[in-house]
Amino acid sequence: MASAQQLIGLVKSHAEGDEERFFDLAMQLAAAEDQKGHTRLAEQLRQWADVSRTPPRPAMAKPTPLAAPRGDLAGFLDASYPSTRLKDVILPFHLEDELTHIVTETRMRERLEEKGLRPRRRLLFAGPPGTGKTLSAAALAGELQFPLFTVLLHGLITKFMGETAQKLRKIFDAVRTVRGVYLFDEIDALAASRGSVNDIGEARRILNSFLQFLDEDTGPSIIVATTNLPEILDRAVLRRFDLVLPYEMPKGPAIEKALRRRLIGFEAKSVDWAEVALHAGGLSTADIVAAAEDAARRTVLAHQDRIETIALIASLDRRRSLHGIGGTGGDAEGSQTLHSARSRNDAGFQGQGRRIVKKT
Ligand SMILES: Nc1ncnc2c1ncn2[C@@H]1O[C@H](COP(=O)(O)OP(=O)(O)OP(=O)(O)O)[C@@H](O)[C@H]1O
Ligand SMILES: [Mg+2]
Repeated sequence: MASAQQLIGLVKSHAEGDEERFFDLAMQLAAAEDQKGHTRLAEQLRQWADVSRTPPRPAMAKPTPLAAPRGDLAGFLDASYPSTRLKDVILPFHLEDELTHIVTETRMRERLEEKGLRPRRRLLFAGPPGTGKTLSAAALAGELQFPLFTVLLHGLITKFMGETAQKLRKIFDAVRTVRGVYLFDEIDALAASRGSVNDIGEARRILNSFLQFLDEDTGPSIIVATTNLPEILDRAVLRRFDLVLPYEMPKGPAIEKALRRRLIGFEAKSVDWAEVALHAGGLSTADIVAAAEDAARRTVLAHQDRIETIALIASLDRRRSLHGIGGTGGDAEGSQTLHSARSRNDAGFQGQGRRIVKKT
């Protein structure tokens, strides 16, 4: 362990805001622990020392060069430091609960490891577009203060045809060595080719390498894959994940919550939320947010600061017709208020009979 003098020096330099000295001392400690064979502890000290050097970041700012992908990786790995938190994502209770637990498991990794357990790190978010999958990955990074590395899968495949598996290996090397949340968006793009007529060489190799790397990884990072098409992912793919979360289209209470969030600053006391929710059937949370923004813009341009029920309904209807959705798309449950949903301990999402698939 560190000597008392070293510890005092560390705390003192931090208290005095002497970042350089703090960094040097932390690095010395890491080197000393390395020599004693405590490589994990040394690695953690280095990582936290790196964090101390990073200035506070604005939302989604580019990370410092320290964690930004360099060289080859820069072409297909996008890095950011999201300030998004889990409370920013409107989710049904059971999904929110699982994500919160993932954050706790990651933070308490060592305690789990002492008992031979590991935090869950390989996550699959499955569900329709605009339901918060990417946002959730950003929120995990934001909660943990990890960088978010988005793997540009499509670019990877088309740009490096023939060498994709090698590039994937590089990404997984980074997964192992640079702690972060690694987001593989739309992995169905990989899986779709398996079993299709185009199922030749390269596509199969890429997916197989991805699955193999996923299996092999034991590092400190969180891997999030997303898909709109879970049905085309076979069991071989699904079983590689520690947790599969089903994202769903929002209904009543979640609709109201999404609308209200975008209307902060407007007078909305007279809005008939139950009536409004009836007009949001079939729309994703992203669409509902966009409709709220549309209504807000129109209200501002009409020199008003009070949002009218009719304005919200009109914006939602416009959105639905853009998507070719007829009728109101609402149902009895869809008109429930936020209040009644809270009492059910559920943010109010359309259940489609799917359950969270959890590996134990
Ligand atoms: N559950 C949610 N809670 C709060 N905002 C949401 C939610 N879902 C979507 N949004 C809003 O819509 C935007 C787009 O959502 P996001 O990119 O997370 O969707 P997605 O599920 O990843 O969609 P896709 O499958 O098309 O990638 C978000 O930035 C946010 O403004
Ligand atoms: Mg997405």
